[in-house]
Amino acid sequence: MRVYDLIQKKRDGAALTSEELVRLISGYAAGEIPDYQMSAFLMAVFFRGMTPEETAEFTMAMVRSGEQLDLSRIRGVKVDKHSTGGVGDKTSLVLIPLVAAAGAPVAKLSGRGLGHTGGTIDKLESIAGFRAELSTDQFIEQVNRIGCAIAGQTANLVPADKKIYALRDVTATVDSVPLIAASVMSKKIAGGSDAIVLDVKTGRGAFMKTLETSRELAQTMVNIGNAVGRRTMAVISDMDQPLGFAVGNALEVREALDTLRGEGPQDLRELCLVLGSQMLLLAGIAKTGEQARARLEGAFERREALAKFKDMIKAQGGDPALVDNPARLPAAPVVSPVPSPASGSVESIEAEAIGLAAMALGAGRATKEDVIDPAVGIVLRKKVGDAVREGEILADVHSADAERAEAAAARVGAAYSIVRSRAPRRPLIHEVVG
Ligand code: URA
Repeated sequence: MRVYDLIQKKRDGAALTSEELVRLISGYAAGEIPDYQMSAFLMAVFFRGMTPEETAEFTMAMVRSGEQLDLSRIRGVKVDKHSTGGVGDKTSLVLIPLVAAAGAPVAKLSGRGLGHTGGTIDKLESIAGFRAELSTDQFIEQVNRIGCAIAGQTANLVPADKKIYALRDVTATVDSVPLIAASVMSKKIAGGSDAIVLDVKTGRGAFMKTLETSRELAQTMVNIGNAVGRRTMAVISDMDQPLGFAVGNALEVREALDTLRGEGPQDLRELCLVLGSQMLLLAGIAKTGEQARARLEGAFERREALAKFKDMIKAQGGDPALVDNPARLPAAPVVSPVPSPASGSVESIEAEAIGLAAMALGAGRATKEDVIDPAVGIVLRKKVGDAVREGEILADVHSADAERAEAAAARVGAAYSIVRSRAPRRPLIHEVVG
């Protein structure tokens, strides 16, 4: 079987067999197929797409390129959650302890941020002492003991995706539905959970900018999960403006703590209730959506989710005292307000521009080698649909120095669009797929 023939077959629009896909993935992971041939294949997929069967086979070939976690020693139905990435998306920090407090075990593998989007592990590492590197035994033991764990992905989980993703990044082949779906789902399947809830972001701060492409991605991933025996659901949620108010690592941990205490932003709480309900349904903990929601609301109100977060931080070596005293989190020395240039209401906030402004302050990485400053970021005070007076504060910039604060304040100001008329609020949940 020549690689040339496989590239030609895809170029001409035919579907590859399972055997052919395995040959491509295993050959590339082993270094036997050169980057230029894999690049040509990826570009052919970009233009020709893949059939649903082919996408599922491609995903499973990626899964088999490395280690697969065996979570069978964890009691109960394990449910995982994945977000396609956004700005201010601290959902996992609230959702994982919330769902665990409601009775479903969660063994979550998370990533770091790259570009304008943040990563859960970077956020958790703003907690002094927190350890994201757990051995498989430690990971399993912790979920059995306290109900949840959030750990960084090991290098040997889907190594083919690491290589292919890096190649896609430099060959203009990232935004292809089958390639994104296979990349995300291979990592979720190798992560070993029985059921998967996907948070597919849509809008200007997301990978998928339109509802139509977001829906296609959601349906493709749901089909892959179900085809390989993992019950999978997707929620399409809004990422046209940042989620909640805080963007930046320690600032987001603080907002997650507020939410766990019942004092956080409404959109973040609602998204956690919607995703959490799906997780409880898939885990068989609740029979109806109403039952699931009531259980989660109870876990918020009785502070059980907050207590679970504290247990998880303590189990992973972090400072549990900051749960009751968030002032122990790192704080930036300079806080600069961004005043509104006009009176009216907020029509839109460019989520990607806010993410890039936070990254320039040091909250994210432009390259993998960059070191993150956990204290810096942006806290919005006004969201889409809010009324504002000229000179009123739109947001605060938290910075390490005055120079970067000034540059970020200009970018944040430019990300806001203020109109004279009353702007409508944006819907948070667009659709549930599955
Ligand atoms: N996230 C992933 O893990 N892979 C993609 O291809 C895109 C987003």
